[in-house]
Amino acid sequence: MTRTASLQAAEIEQRITALLERMSLDEKVGQLTLLQAGGGHIPEHLREDVRAGRVGAVLNEVHVDTANELQRIATEESRLGIPLLVGRDVIHGFTTVFPIPLGQAASWDPALVTACARVAAQESAACGVNWTFAPMLDIARDPRWGRIAESLGEDPVLAGQLGAAMVRGFQGDDLAKPGAIAACAKHFAAYGASESGRDYNSTNVPENELRNVYLPPFKAALDAGAASVMTSFSDLDGVPASANTFLLRDILREEWRSDAMVVSDWDSIRQLAVHGFTEDDRSSAFEAARAGVDLEMASTTYRDHLPSLVRDGRLTESRIDALVRNVLRLKFRLGLFESAQTDAARFAPAASPSHLALAYEAAVGSAVLLTNRDWALPLDASTLTSLAVIGPLADDPHEQLGTWVFDGDAQYSRTILDAVRAHVGDRIDVRFARGVANTRSRRTDLIDEAVALAANSEVTVLVLGEEAILSGEAHCRADVTLPGAQQALLEAVAATGTKVIVVLMTGRPLALEAAVPHAHAMLCVWHPGSMAGPAVSDLLFGVRSPSGKLPVTFPRVTGQIPIYYAHKHTGKPVTPESYIHQEDIEPRAHQVSVGNTSFHLDTHYTPLFPFGHGLSYSHVEYEHLWSSSGVLPMEGRLTLGVDVVNVGPRDTVETVQLYVRDLVGDVTRPVRELKAFTRVALARGERRTVEFTITPRDLAFYGRAQRLLVEPGRFHAWIGGSSTAELRTEFTLLDHATSA
Ligand code: NOJ
Repeated sequence: MTRTASLQAAEIEQRITALLERMSLDEKVGQLTLLQAGGGHIPEHLREDVRAGRVGAVLNEVHVDTANELQRIATEESRLGIPLLVGRDVIHGFTTVFPIPLGQAASWDPALVTACARVAAQESAACGVNWTFAPMLDIARDPRWGRIAESLGEDPVLAGQLGAAMVRGFQGDDLAKPGAIAACAKHFAAYGASESGRDYNSTNVPENELRNVYLPPFKAALDAGAASVMTSFSDLDGVPASANTFLLRDILREEWRSDAMVVSDWDSIRQLAVHGFTEDDRSSAFEAARAGVDLEMASTTYRDHLPSLVRDGRLTESRIDALVRNVLRLKFRLGLFESAQTDAARFAPAASPSHLALAYEAAVGSAVLLTNRDWALPLDASTLTSLAVIGPLADDPHEQLGTWVFDGDAQYSRTILDAVRAHVGDRIDVRFARGVANTRSRRTDLIDEAVALAANSEVTVLVLGEEAILSGEAHCRADVTLPGAQQALLEAVAATGTKVIVVLMTGRPLALEAAVPHAHAMLCVWHPGSMAGPAVSDLLFGVRSPSGKLPVTFPRVTGQIPIYYAHKHTGKPVTPESYIHQEDIEPRAHQVSVGNTSFHLDTHYTPLFPFGHGLSYSHVEYEHLWSSSGVLPMEGRLTLGVDVVNVGPRDTVETVQLYVRDLVGDVTRPVRELKAFTRVALARGERRTVEFTITPRDLAFYGRAQRLLVEPGRFHAWIGGSSTAELRTEFTLLDHATSA
């Protein structure tokens, strides 16, 4: 057995205390040091560091023999025998690659997200990894930011529930069991608010928005047991996250009473000086340790300076002990003191059929049908006469995997072209052209060949979007339309008169206003991972029906960003009557004759596709919204229900969403907030009642004093299939316990 059963919390604390008593200051600081491993070999300096207890954790070692040898040196050759944390970015799969997190979020399916994380944990644990740097819980409302791909979308409730689901998948019910790895809630906090969607940029988030929007997913993940937290690269209101006492001490430790281990992001303690927040490495180490970063990733300011900071009296040794305690606690929880060795033979092989089957399910579940004019989809393979598959992403085993796939193996990838060919068999000769060399290329010389194919095809499946490298860390875009010559390719193909089905592979919401009119249908599959091909093919041919819903708003044009459904009402909200497009303004119109409400003159005020949107091959209607009462007493509960009816031609799965608006608040409140959701399978013709029960706690928010308030007053509630749901009811939250 690689790890034994978990130890009781109190026993762990005692064992830590006993160990701390035996540790020298240098050994303690060693436990606070996380260094890059050699990746398949052990560099001499690392071997020496581990032996001397100068390093407590490594990252990026996925060769099980090397990981085992490192653990052997740590446990057998170091003075105190303390095992190592072995970290790796296991973000959306390991060898088997699942859809990017934003894609998984589009499934609105916590059980699916848990299952994917579970498999990723097992595949990576088999290689000696015991700690992942996921889930990323940054609320992302700016598609320019490349890391939106790693996020769970724009909404705190959705991201919180799915983040917690991911934590449960990675960690299981006991971190010490084989196949469990420690999760890491990152990046604490508000990294997603990087100004102008440019990575690593500053964030300026008022405390009220921080508490109401950015922090809840972290709280949800910690409540689900997330064993560690990673600080963000960014500064928040002028204080870099890796030295932010407000975040790390006041919120994480004091308010939330969390004992999760805090790790810095890569080099971010050293970067405190680059930010201009500290003078040099020594003061960076001081500030980070004071704020409560337990483990320093990549840089060595702790190792180089903490011992002398203690000796000089600037930091107490008990401060160091507190940091070490958090690191050791995680090692105990992981069962590493019982055994740190990994027996790869006891794990299922990576990319096993069952893992790939799950990757297929996840890719199906994450696909969002954005448009479907005149039921252009699904295609009927039995009557189809000719089919072209065109596009730079249609047959690329690597690009479909998306960002953060250090261990993803493209040899297991099945491409869309492959799978479509397999589906139609010999009956149709499926012809293929790239159309453009890659998604970024502006060259149009390959378009003619594609047009020739399309012109002779009844249907053209056009696989467009972004290559993996255009999203993820440090890969931000200032213009989020289709990159390169893809719009020209789309228009040229559409001009042939073929039926155009656009499959969109992307790491972010794109601004598709110019693209949509040229497509008969548009299916957003994000970066779907290993099994993109079979999933997309089955969706195109109606073997499966799309059921995904957008976890993030799609703007019409880049300039609308940030645009998200839970915006504030403002004092001058736009209405259909007050809206005017600039082309419709009369010459020399009087300054106050048009508008004077909140909108842009050169685009519509709505997004192209709202949060929660997603079609299927059936059609669901919502009827008879009801509320169990018009009032909700302070100690009570309220049930809201609706009939959902599948009036379309097929069985379907619908994600039913409950939104609420608090009409008057201590601070202004969003026009709608998602409160609950559930996925419902509906056979053709089936009618079901869906109910949600809410309590006053679900209506709580942080007010002006930055305290959680449950305010009596009136609320509107909607239930429907997207954030633009129209069926509405209302209720009143009473300020006393019994109903009036
Ligand atoms: C930097 C990234 O910001 C973080 O998300 C990642 O986990 C670390 N590098 C480790 O690779």
